[in-house]
Amino acid sequence: MSKITAAITAVGAYVPDFVLTNQLLETMVDTNDEWITSRTGIKERRILKEENQGTSFLAIKAAEDLLKKSGTNPAEIDLVLVASATPDMPVAATAVYVATKIGAVNAFAYDLQAACSSFLYAMSNAAAYIESGRYKKVLVIGADKMSSIIDYTDRATCIIFGDGAGAVLFEPNFEGLGLQDEILRSDGIGRDYLKIEAGGSILPASHETVDNKQHYVFQDGKTVFKYAVSNMADVSEKIMQQNNLSHDDVNWLVAHQANKRIIDATAHRMGVDESKVLINIEKYGNTTSATLPLLLHDFEHLFKKGDNIIFASFGGGFTWGSIYLKWAYTKN
Ligand code: UT7
Repeated sequence: MSKITAAITAVGAYVPDFVLTNQLLETMVDTNDEWITSRTGIKERRILKEENQGTSFLAIKAAEDLLKKSGTNPAEIDLVLVASATPDMPVAATAVYVATKIGAVNAFAYDLQAACSSFLYAMSNAAAYIESGRYKKVLVIGADKMSSIIDYTDRATCIIFGDGAGAVLFEPNFEGLGLQDEILRSDGIGRDYLKIEAGGSILPASHETVDNKQHYVFQDGKTVFKYAVSNMADVSEKIMQQNNLSHDDVNWLVAHQANKRIIDATAHRMGVDESKVLINIEKYGNTTSATLPLLLHDFEHLFKKGDNIIFASFGGGFTWGSIYLKWAYTKN
């Protein structure tokens, strides 16, 4: 029997209806459309306004979109993995609730948290399960309700993040398509530069932590930017080298949408033409775990069977990496 590879066979997505534009942000904090657009590439982001709804709401909708479009029977799914930095609640995994709600009654489920690299790492997890031959259908959902951890009086962070979700299905492939190679990295130095100080086991929630606004995302943007540019470009270049891929061989760059300048720097180092660099940051901002599957969803119509896709991400922690994947289908 030929070797089993893990291919993406279906994609789904969901973003909330409410659009938070740069113009609206101008009325909330001291900022302007020109600054946001030139520094980040973002024009608007989506915000989940439904009351008492968390990340699972987004994840379920993305999964249902995938199931409907692909005609997948949820009872056949073996594993539901939710990549997220904003789970519904501590301890009880969001993925478990999502699996039950979508009818994945025979699946086990768990969350994976690696900040903005959560989805990239989850792709690696999913592929390993499939390649081992142990499981046949692994649903990977990247979902984040970033608006639940953002201080909308802090212009350093509120202009960047948005809410959204995307889902992919991994299945065995016997033609050599799917995930080919990966480079995944981490460095704990990043913990000081991008974090939520309170609410974890070091500093549990108290009246004081709430008063001090320690439950919101803090980011030292300049420092994170420097690490992101060099590390994301490094691994993307390296994965091309170790797979003997020239810039002509790469069909698409699917990079984490944190800042257009970081993506451009990565593409430049890879020598990949601008036309192959997929961008939707202008519409959604940084949706953390959802950026990669949202790109796959928005540009799925362009992909052809056999296309070489390089994924790249960089996130808090720090966590980063690159994955080389051969696309497995052409959409009719
Ligand atoms: O996804 C996970 C990983 N995260 C990232 O990859 C994000 C990495 N960092 C970034 O994308 C960028 O650092 C930011 C977009 C967050 C900030 O851009 P920057 O070019 O690094 O700006 P800065 O923080 O150096 O600020 C430049 C100036 C400052 O003013 P002065 O000191 O030069 O007078 C800021 O006070 O821009 C000011 N500024 C703003 N002005 C208008 C900061 N935020 C804003 C704002 N509107 N929203």
